[in-house]
Amino acid sequence: MTARIIDGKAVAAALRAKLARQVATLPFRPGLAVVLVGDDPASAIYVRAKDRAANAVGIAARTVRLPADTSEEALITHIARLNADPSMDGILVQLPLPPQIASQAVVEAVDPDKDVDGFHPLNIGRLASGYPCLVPCTPTGVMKLLAEAGVALEGAHALVIGRSTIVGRPMGMLLLAGHATVTVVHTRTRDLAAECRRADIIVAAAGRPQLVRGDWIAPGATVIDVGVNRLPDGRLVGDVAFAEAVEIAGAITPVPGGAGPMTIACLLENTVTAALRRRSSG
Ligand code: GUN
Repeated sequence: MTARIIDGKAVAAALRAKLARQVATLPFRPGLAVVLVGDDPASAIYVRAKDRAANAVGIAARTVRLPADTSEEALITHIARLNADPSMDGILVQLPLPPQIASQAVVEAVDPDKDVDGFHPLNIGRLASGYPCLVPCTPTGVMKLLAEAGVALEGAHALVIGRSTIVGRPMGMLLLAGHATVTVVHTRTRDLAAECRRADIIVAAAGRPQLVRGDWIAPGATVIDVGVNRLPDGRLVGDVAFAEAVEIAGAITPVPGGAGPMTIACLLENTVTAALRRRSSG
């Protein structure tokens, strides 16, 4: 049997349309600052996409471009200015940063109430505690795809592959909050294939092209592929061997067009959430 394809592009488009309708009813335009340091080509593409998508739903997005040799102190001064700017509801600093800048210091410099990436330790701590907070965008997008696909979380064995602060760790916390039994695996896990075979839900976020093979997947399992990897021949592939997995899984996301489009849509949602919270708390 062939798996059902979970269409992240369509789910993301529906979320963006809903946000555009919501923003149109507001008496103000939510503001978003996207900070890009240096000229990493992949980061430049992501930042342009975020800026465009935000403006398309009515968010006033502004990209702050800083040279690659910007000091940590200068970047933190920029962030302090954005923190103090009442027209800015969300602040996002695109990662990775150049080597002279410690990303921890930068992440901690962003006002937690404007932290639309959900990377600030206060927001991560709130998430771990089960308190309301701004939640990282990619894991939030994965949860929406699982809901859209009608996947029951309660009691399910969910496997997260990868332990990054951007995806793996918050993903595990969200699945746990949804009452799944969660396992997080990583590069030092002894038998990855065996862990996969036990899973009802696999979220692959390892950054390793086609790591998860078809025969690692339990028949009927749900597979969400967060990986985006460029092969030497130029092809874009995920962390899952899609052609094999699609024959075994019950439902699966493609790459591209699966989890990817959800990340930006959830960033826009976080920006609207931050704007409403800030303006209602005065
Ligand atoms: N770099 C890779 N993913 C992300 C993300 O979600 N947010 C930011 N700020 N940088 C990233």
